[in-house]
Amino acid sequence: MPVQAITKLAYQTLQQGKGIAGLFHKELSTKLMSLMAPDVIPNTSPISPQLFKKLRLSIEKLEQIDWKDAEDGLYPKRQLFEAPWIKWAKYYPLIWLDLPSTWGRRRKRSTREIPKQIDPEIYPDYYLQNFHHQTDGYLSDYSANLYDLQVEILFNGTADAMRRRIIAPLKRGLKRFSTRNSSNIRVLDIATGTGRTLKQIRAALPKVELIGLDLSNAYLKQASKSLSAKNNELPQLIRGNAEDLPFAKDTMQGVTCVFLLHELPQKARENVLKNCWEVIEPGGVLVLADSIQLSDSPDFEKILKDFPKVFHEPYYIDYINQDINALLEKIGFSGVTSESYFMTKVWTAHKPIDN
Ligand SMILES: C[S@@+](CC[C@H](N)C(=O)[O-])C[C@H]1O[C@@H](n2cnc3c(N)ncnc32)[C@H](O)[C@@H]1O
Repeated sequence: MPVQAITKLAYQTLQQGKGIAGLFHKELSTKLMSLMAPDVIPNTSPISPQLFKKLRLSIEKLEQIDWKDAEDGLYPKRQLFEAPWIKWAKYYPLIWLDLPSTWGRRRKRSTREIPKQIDPEIYPDYYLQNFHHQTDGYLSDYSANLYDLQVEILFNGTADAMRRRIIAPLKRGLKRFSTRNSSNIRVLDIATGTGRTLKQIRAALPKVELIGLDLSNAYLKQASKSLSAKNNELPQLIRGNAEDLPFAKDTMQGVTCVFLLHELPQKARENVLKNCWEVIEPGGVLVLADSIQLSDSPDFEKILKDFPKVFHEPYYIDYINQDINALLEKIGFSGVTSESYFMTKVWTAHKPIDN
């Protein structure tokens, strides 16, 4: 069997394994909840076999695109296998041990249990919440240690494949600057969290200058650890608010932002996109990835509407109803396009050259 076919099989097997592990985990944790905390079981209906089949097909399609993009050289194939396996194995038991406190918050409808040492003055009010009911919100090392694995389980092992969908439009968008030395091209990843997206961008664009920004010190510490593990240059990591970016006008050739918009109130969402516009150089590109929305996925409407019943996501319903394409155009972006991949929608938008 040629190496190519073996690698593809290994990728498919890995994805299947992650998918089964994710489903198994969710099945088991739901059973445990029905035994130990039946009063907090969310009021959602089960997924029908037809819907399950559609989800399965949609995951397969995503993985085919992920494989093809790697095969086409958009990013190295080793990216498809990259994950902090040892760390995940170490922290997996904590995900189970954390469940009772999650159930407790659901029971009390308590959504603002933030570590006491946190100074609330330096964060926007909407941020000081337990998104997904997670312990400490985004504001502790404990939360940052569990986050990547929790997301991986939530999406049945497809989280990184969905994040990677920003690479093709980002590379296409940066072609406009191809006559420049790569080190004069700057890409900013907003709400970079623990740095999974930055890591993928660095593998795809090893020479460009990378900057990651997030409000959480704890998540940035994780990003720093994971990004400094190899010999590559450490991207700049900056604690800051995406509503008030600390960069000069027209200084970024590319801006990316993954899984942030649905966690913002509408006004903050608009502020963030306006800030992106400000910092992007004319001719530059903005690539956003976030949850699919109601308008693109009538088949998945039930899942989208159930999501905020299961997880504390106070702005999700507003987000899935908002026309982001229209908003981007109103701000001034041109050539706005969007595409969906399983549970993720990716927008590409350009700042016109005559600005
Ligand atoms: C769902 S996580 C996504 C993280 C990462 N992009 C990923 O793909 O996993 C949302 C991230 O947005 C950050 N965040 C939320 N509001 C923010 C804001 N106004 N400015 C900067 N970061 C923010 C959080 O700290 C968190 O790391």
